[in-house]
Amino acid sequence: MGRGVFITFEGGEGAGKSSLIEEVARQLASDGIQVVKTREPGSTHLGEHIRTLLLNHTSQPVSPYAELCLFLAARAQHIQEVIVPSLERRKVILCDRYNDSTIAYQGAARGLGMEKVESICEFICQGVQPHLTLYLDIDPAVGLFRARGSSPEIAGERGYDRIEVEGLEFHSKIRKAFLEIHEKDPARVHLLDASQKKEIVCAEAMKAIRLLLGSLA
Ligand SMILES: Nc1ncnc2c1ncn2[C@@H]1O[C@H](COP(=O)(O)OP(=O)(O)O)[C@@H](O)[C@H]1O
Ligand SMILES: [Mg+2]
Repeated sequence: MGRGVFITFEGGEGAGKSSLIEEVARQLASDGIQVVKTREPGSTHLGEHIRTLLLNHTSQPVSPYAELCLFLAARAQHIQEVIVPSLERRKVILCDRYNDSTIAYQGAARGLGMEKVESICEFICQGVQPHLTLYLDIDPAVGLFRARGSSPEIAGERGYDRIEVEGLEFHSKIRKAFLEIHEKDPARVHLLDASQKKEIVCAEAMKAIRLLLGSLA
């Protein structure tokens, strides 16, 4: 896997992944560490096409199996084009979502089965697994409020809208799945309480990252 360091950031919508990656990258870069920020799908030419495909099909139902295959196709390309070369160049890779999101979204929330999706992810990734995963845990109602500026809980007072109810149920399944993944592998998956202030979440993330970098040095 080269001599670089692979760190993934996981969690539901609005948990704070993208903001945290920006701040962690800034702090690591100011320590003189070479960082690569990346995300799926979309960090490669093929990934951009897949992203467009996924976004352009919002009006028609997409088979959950097709959705899984598209995400995995983007991942396979991302591994070959970005992650493996960056590891070989000894970079610290900060990746916004990876296998755990696929296991939680497609495996748990879409109902394809967490174990089945995990094993297909393992096949696709050929051993390219994160050294550390920072899981940002948040109540989905809070996360959705941050991400969209409206809360399904508040919507409840004026009567739930079908999508909003489904949205919250869907996102609750995702949180439960992430918590299971953390419980199964706490050594890799570090849980951060993402309801805290950004500065505190970031300080805790940096502590875990510095510990990892120290142990690999
Ligand atoms: N710890 C936090 N407390 C309050 N708001 C936050 C926190 N972290 C992120 N946010 C805000 O929530 C919104 C979603 O954050 P973002 O980083 O885009 O989440 P994600 O990438 O996980 O969907 C942004 O407006 C961001 O500034
Ligand atoms: Mg984001």
